[in-house]
Amino acid sequence: MNCQLTIDKEPFSFQIEGDFFWGIDQVLFNPSSSVIMNTSWKKDGYALFDLLTVEEFNRIQENISSLLKSIALEIGIDLPDHFSPEKYHLYFNTQELHNQVIQKTRFLTFKDFKIDFQQLCTRVSDFIKYPLQLENPLLDEEIVILRISRPKSLDINPLHRDGYLDIWANVLNLWIPLAGCDENSSLPVFPESHLLNETKVYRSETKGARINGLGYHVPGIVDVKGGLDLIRPNPAYRQALLFTPFLIHGAAINQNENKTRLSLELRFCKKGI
Ligand SMILES: [Fe+2]
Repeated sequence: MNCQLTIDKEPFSFQIEGDFFWGIDQVLFNPSSSVIMNTSWKKDGYALFDLLTVEEFNRIQENISSLLKSIALEIGIDLPDHFSPEKYHLYFNTQELHNQVIQKTRFLTFKDFKIDFQQLCTRVSDFIKYPLQLENPLLDEEIVILRISRPKSLDINPLHRDGYLDIWANVLNLWIPLAGCDENSSLPVFPESHLLNETKVYRSETKGARINGLGYHVPGIVDVKGGLDLIRPNPAYRQALLFTPFLIHGAAINQNENKTRLSLELRFCKKGI
C-alpha cells in the first residue's frame, strides 16, 4: 500500500508491503514510568541534546571511515585515502554493494567504537534526570546501528515505534548525525505521537513490513487517524536527538542530490529493570 505523510509540511509517499490493521484500545506510553517522565519535553516526546565533545565526534568519524574502508577492502572496492563518507554512493554504487555494507553495519556494538559510552550514558541520565545504563538485560548485547541513506533513494525504514518490541519498551533512543545530515535528510519524528491511542494507528505485525523488497524487524506504521505529519528536528553535529521509543519516527528520506547521510542509532536502558 501507499504510505502518505508530510515532513515539515511537504508531502511524500512510498510503497510499503505487508498486512496492516488498526490497533486495540490502549496507549502504550506510560507517563509515570517512562524514562522521559522527569523532562520538560515529555509531551513532545523528543529533544536535542549536546552529547559529544569535538574529540569524541572526530573519533566516531574516524571509526566509521575505517569501518567502511575495511568493508570496502573485503568486497573489493578501492576507496581513496581522502574518502569522505558523504561520497559513499559514488563508490558503493549498486544496490548489491550497498546491501553487503548494511548487512555489516546493522548490528554494531558499543565495543566497535573507541568511545566511552558509559560517560555518554551518564551525561544523558543527568540531562533527563532519570538513571540509565548501557546494558539491556533483555539482549545479549545492545546494538548500535549505522544507518546509511544514499541520496534520492528508498534507503529508509518504515515509520514505527521501537517500543512495540518488548526489548525496547524501557529505553531512551538516541539518533546521532555523522555526515550528510541536514534539513533535507535528518530523521523525521511525529511530535506527541507517543500519546496516541493504538486505535488510531494502522500498522503491521513484527517483521511484517517491507520497503523496496527489504524486510524490517519492527512493525511498520502506514497511517494514523488525523494524518502522519512529521518534522525533522535536525540536530547539529555533536548533538543527539533523544526520544521515547514510543514516538513514531522513521521514513528518513534523503532528499539531497549528492550527499549520502550517515547516522548512528543507539539506545540506553532504564536502570534496574
Ligand atoms: Fe527506530
